Formats: sequence, structure tokens, C-alpha cells
Amino acid sequence: MRHHNKLLLKKRNFSNSLMLFLVLFGITSTVQAQLIPAPSKMDKGSGVFEVDENTSLQFSSKNDGLEEMTIYFQKQVKRLSGIGLPINEKSGKKIRFQIDEKSGLVEEGYKLEISEDNIEISASTTAGVFYGMQSVLQYFPDIRTNEKITLPVMEITDEPAFGWRGMMLDVSRHFYSVETIKEVLDLMAFYKLNTFHWHLTDNEGWRLEIKKYPKLTSVGAWRQEIPGSVFYKKDSTYAEPLTGEPYRYGGFYTQEQAREVVAYATKRNITVIPEIEMPGHSAAALAAYPEFSCAQPKQDPPGSNLWNDVTDTENMAFNYCAGEEAPFQFLQDVLLEVMEIFPSEYIHVGGDEVDKSYWEKCASCQARIQEENLKNEEGLQSYFIKRMEKFLDAHNRKLLGWDEILEGGLAPQATVMSWRGEKGGIAAAKSGHDVVMSPSDPLYFNRYQADPEGEPQAGPYSINTLKKVYNYEPIPESLNTEEARYVLGSQFAIWTEFISSVEHLEYMLLPRMTAFSEAVWSSKDNKDFEDFTKRLNQGHYRRWKNNGIRFHPNYFEKSEY
Ligand code: ACM
Ligand code: ZN
Repeated sequence: MRHHNKLLLKKRNFSNSLMLFLVLFGITSTVQAQLIPAPSKMDKGSGVFEVDENTSLQFSSKNDGLEEMTIYFQKQVKRLSGIGLPINEKSGKKIRFQIDEKSGLVEEGYKLEISEDNIEISASTTAGVFYGMQSVLQYFPDIRTNEKITLPVMEITDEPAFGWRGMMLDVSRHFYSVETIKEVLDLMAFYKLNTFHWHLTDNEGWRLEIKKYPKLTSVGAWRQEIPGSVFYKKDSTYAEPLTGEPYRYGGFYTQEQAREVVAYATKRNITVIPEIEMPGHSAAALAAYPEFSCAQPKQDPPGSNLWNDVTDTENMAFNYCAGEEAPFQFLQDVLLEVMEIFPSEYIHVGGDEVDKSYWEKCASCQARIQEENLKNEEGLQSYFIKRMEKFLDAHNRKLLGWDEILEGGLAPQATVMSWRGEKGGIAAAKSGHDVVMSPSDPLYFNRYQADPEGEPQAGPYSINTLKKVYNYEPIPESLNTEEARYVLGSQFAIWTEFISSVEHLEYMLLPRMTAFSEAVWSSKDNKDFEDFTKRLNQGHYRRWKNNGIRFHPNYFEKSEY
């Protein structure tokens, strides 16, 4: 495959005429998608399987979600070709989905065999079958076509390097619709990612309906211009309001919509992990319920771009009070509703960047430090997180938090998401805690991906190029084999302070998401950046282009199309 690519690159003129020839003679599938992420093992034969009206779908058993998955596949074929493939018909060619627990394949692994007469996907789990389907779908047309759909005869055996292959999206700084979330989930599934970390609350907006506390969304989901407000600044991303109307910007998901997202994700082997931030990053919640903060100031949520320029701690609060009981009761009530919506094993409670100056000045917080024999405000943060962990544990959920939860002592069962480099993750793994690696350099995709000159404004601090993302290895060298087992995997994050449109979001996402997918799915010795960028140019850029999805043009060889 690699040799063939090199040839294509050198002899582009020749290759273009060859392409034209093939197109004229109706063989349009020559510039086939080359798989991303690269499979563990792939042997190509000769000949093709043609998906047509004589093809039927078959699945091995009725009781493990395979039927639903078969219908999902059927819909994809229908969407792209108009052909409605029958299910479990006796005669004709077959596309077969099989679960075989004794197959020897790991969870999420699959075997794909394509001959001229049959396609067979086998796995030990439905997740494995799903990823086999995704590999097949990468060979499908980009958009609805009447052309023949053909797949090359080949055999693939494939499995992921890591079980946690995630993406975090911040919907607080800017709100994204359910439709956009579904688009993101589709891209994740196509590139074999399985964990969607939904950053639902932050200073700038609370995005999830909570029935017991309706003001979280009636107040906390909207930023408004309040005349005379000292901390309010008009956000450049606001649309101009109608004459006489105040500036207003925001949105939230109803519980029904959140459930719809969970169901959509589940069908695609994606777990949705909600993040409800505490004890800091909570200005939006405290705008709705100031009584849960230390000084209880009346406030409204800050605008998305304020980020570092809100320093008016007299007139606004970012933290829940850790000295009073009411904030804990409030958060537990919130989490009860959250757990009803999200069946994920993990609940993310944030824990990052807590400004402890509020607690220093608060009599109740200081009293709590005394009563509980805590060393200082860091101890109070640890107390806060440990209490929440106890609560989650009583409901059979696991607590997940940013690496600041290490400070002042980690809660006994907590899982750490390492963002300030890998230091926190290494410390956690060495002390026997599970870890998800998400170092901001290179995995914050809100940061620049190329020389800032000519790029839309992005997060500073590092330039997270495609290559840097591709070369990322989730297991730090300083961990031994035993410690490395605590690294569940990795995820990238998109914070949206500077990202206010779907187009811009796509631009920050692609192609870096695909490089990440190979970093967490493909084995270390199967990675090759040059080969990867060639595969990107063999169908992936084109697919996005044909589907109206924006992407960063680095490495895009336009002449391929
Ligand atoms: C973070 O970036 N504050 C987790
Ligand atoms: Zn307090």
C-alpha cells in the first residue's frame, strides 16, 4: 500500500490521467478511502465485492443489540445508495455480522473478511462488529450516488491500543445544538472514538435542564447585558439584538434532548460522560442561585471571552461555599438528576482552577477547615471532592476530575484526567489511580494548529500541530508496565472561548481528530505520519469536502481531487 502511494505522489500527472480514464469507464472507487485509524493487520487480495440488490444482511443472534446495529448499517447503505438491503434473506450474496465470544478477539476488536461473494464481520462484542462496520463504511461513497459500491477483496484483523478514546467538548462558552453534537458523534464513530465528555457547565453558562432548580437554565444558560453590571462586557459573538431588546446569548439542553444524545451515542458505541463543574468554574450556577456561594453576590454569567479578565471577586463568585451544607445538598440533587439521564460509569466533577481566595475570606469555610482538621484551603478542596465521591460511590458511579483534585489529597477511588501536562497523570498512576491523559499540549484542539499568522484567534501557549497530535503516546516513559495499566487511554479537548460557530468547530476538529484516533487506536509500531497524511488525502479530506464539513488545509493535496 505504501509503495503504491509513493508512486501516486511522484507520478501525479500520470495518476490524474489514469483517474480520468477510470472515471470515464465507470470505475470510480479507485481512489478509495484508506483506513484511518490504520488497522492492526490488513491483507489485500484481488477482485471486489459489489454491494447491490442481490446482497442481503445477516446477523448471528437476536439478543445482543446486533439486530439494531444491522439496521443502522442498512440505513447507511440506503442513505448512500438508495438500496434497501433485505435482512436475513436466504439467497444471494451476504454481508454477515457475527458475535463469537470464543473468537479470541479483544473487546472492540474485529475481523473483516471480504471476498467476491461475501463480507463477514466477526467480533466478540457488538462494539467490535460496529468498528468492523465503520471500516467497511470508509470504503463507501461520500454522498448519495448511483455508482456501483465496491469493496476490495481483503482481510483485516484489528483492535484498539486503548480502551478510552475520547473527546471533550465545551458547550458552556458557546452553545452547540443537538444537531451539531450528533454530527460530532458521527465523526467520532467513523474514526473509532468511544467516549464523549460533555462539558456542560462552566462560569459562562449552565447547559442542562435540572428540574429541581429551574433557574440554572432560565438564568444560568443566558448571558445578558445588565446595565450597570461591572463585570459584564458585550461579547463580540452576540448577534445584534432588536431595537430595545437586551443582548442575550446562550441555550441549554432539555433532559429529553440530553437523553436523545445519550441514545444516539450509545448506538455508536460512544459513552457520554457529563461534566458538572465544582467547586469552581461555577459562576453561571451561582448567578442563578447566589445563596450557594460564600459572599452570595447577585451576578449574571460572564460572557464567553472574558476568560481571564473577570477579576471582580467582590461582586461575583465562581465557587460554591464549602463551609455550608446547602451547596452540597444542591449538588447532590443536581447529580441525582444527572445520573438519571446519563448511565455512564463515570461522572466528571471538574475540580480545576479553583480560586481559593473566596474560601480564605469566608467564615463558614474557615470553620469547616477547623472542624474537619484540614490543613488549608487545598485540604478543603480535597474534602469537597471526597464528599462528592462518597455520594457518587453510593450510587455506583465513579468520580472523575481534572488533575487539581490531586492537591490536598486524592479521593480514594478517583480517576484523574491529566491536563496540565502528564505530571498529574503520572503521580496518580504511581499511586494506583486510574488516569486519562489529556495534556493541553498537544491535546487541546482549541489551540493553534499552525503558525498563528493567518489563523483565527485560538488558545495560546502551544501550537498543537497535526504531527504533534499524531505522535502523541498516552503512556509516559516514566511509568513501568505495572503503573502503565492505570492509563485507561486518552482524550482531546475543545474549549470554545474563541469558537462560536459550527464551521470554526469543524476547522479545529479536523483533521486533528483523525491523527488522535490513530494515536489511540493503532499500535505504536503501526504508526507512520507520512503514510497517515497520504491516507488523509485518499478520501478523507474529499469526504468532508463533499459533505460540507470544514477542515484545516494543512497537508491537503488539492490536486488529488
Ligand atoms: C482545564 O483546562 N481547565 C481543565
Ligand atoms: Zn464559604
